[in-house]
Amino acid sequence: MATDETDALSGRRIVIAVSGGIAAYKAAELVRLCIKAGAEVRVVMTKAAQKFITPLTLQALSQHPVATDTFDLQQESTIGHIELADWAELLVIAPATGDILARLAHGMADDLATTVALACRAPLLVAPAMNVNMWNHPATQKNLQTLVERGAHTVGPGTGELACGWVGSGRMSEPAEVLAACVRALGPRDLVGQTVLVAAGPTYEAIDPVRFVGNRSTGKMGFAVARAAVRRGARVVLVAGPTALQTPAGCERIDVESAAQMRDAVMARADGQTAIVMTAAVADYRPKTVAKKKLKKEKLGAAPTIDLEPNPDILAELPGRAYKFRRPVLVGFAAETDDVEKRAVEKRRKKGCDLLVANDVTEAGSGFGTDTNRVLLVGAEGVERLPLLTKDQVADRILDRVVALLPKAGLKLA
Ligand code: C5P
Repeated sequence: MATDETDALSGRRIVIAVSGGIAAYKAAELVRLCIKAGAEVRVVMTKAAQKFITPLTLQALSQHPVATDTFDLQQESTIGHIELADWAELLVIAPATGDILARLAHGMADDLATTVALACRAPLLVAPAMNVNMWNHPATQKNLQTLVERGAHTVGPGTGELACGWVGSGRMSEPAEVLAACVRALGPRDLVGQTVLVAAGPTYEAIDPVRFVGNRSTGKMGFAVARAAVRRGARVVLVAGPTALQTPAGCERIDVESAAQMRDAVMARADGQTAIVMTAAVADYRPKTVAKKKLKKEKLGAAPTIDLEPNPDILAELPGRAYKFRRPVLVGFAAETDDVEKRAVEKRRKKGCDLLVANDVTEAGSGFGTDTNRVLLVGAEGVERLPLLTKDQVADRILDRVVALLPKAGLKLA
């Protein structure tokens, strides 16, 4: 057992829910590894899981009774699904069948495992395991995406020979990999007592009641930062431009449309923040006048022009603003298409932020709408070039840097 896993899991409270797939046998090893790493483990099994492996095995390994039934009075009086949900610092579903992923994605609570999941505010880690065609089914992929957007962590599945005879993706990750994912999902709680404001998404600048000037930002990067900050213990305000993304659990969300509205929302809450992360793609210009009624094509003629005026630069305004409590750590973003490093260094200086995160939006796997990003972190001490990472991973790397900046900003960690 690697000592860092022992350190990270020692005394942590983990609920492992086992659903009904052939990979249920791997749950036994996972429970054993968690216990060996010093975690406290409670096991929940679905009805189908008990067809593959007995509760007695998991009871012996976890050293506690296994919960199987929401309506079992004895179990409910000793454990209780709410008590179990509140007790958990991490909820792991391993293996997670296609069926339980669907039930989790839809917020169903039709057995003990999903009832605990619905009541649980701790991070969720799912280790999918199923037949390759079930895994590749758009319904399963959509369900997983829904869970990830809500902040769930995933591990696997791996590729190889499946119990059903097919070869492909669908094997549950090995217990040691799931254990490492538990450590990542529990993550550092280094933002407890801190407050983080994240501005995310595009802004829409109205031309008339129907039309607007906008951009291609989806908000994914900012929502990932908000999710990561919540996970690390911060109180998070998410100021969101128009986006279809779901609010990460535990955030206060303020929806805005235009840059002016975003500015007002950010400035009204800037005081008292530990950090402000401006991931939003704020429109630099807006139409000078907004027509009250829809502009008519017949009246506009063949080549209409729209007069623009500059929007306020929210990020650039933040360093010089008067703060009653403290000046927050300021993080800016820069989406570039060329000369990324040079422009990023220059932009950080011009905007006066502590950290500037820059990416080349023309690069494959980077920028708007993707789930991955390759970024440069530009700070006072120079430029750090990160590899291609998921936006969730990028979010954590940014927050690592925010945490490192806290003492310099005269702040104390809780
Ligand atoms: O100058 P540019 O738009 O590339 O700067 C990007 C950074 O500045 C982002 O962090 C963005 O959120 C912020 N910004 C802003 N207000 C604007 C334009 C950009 O806060 N009007």
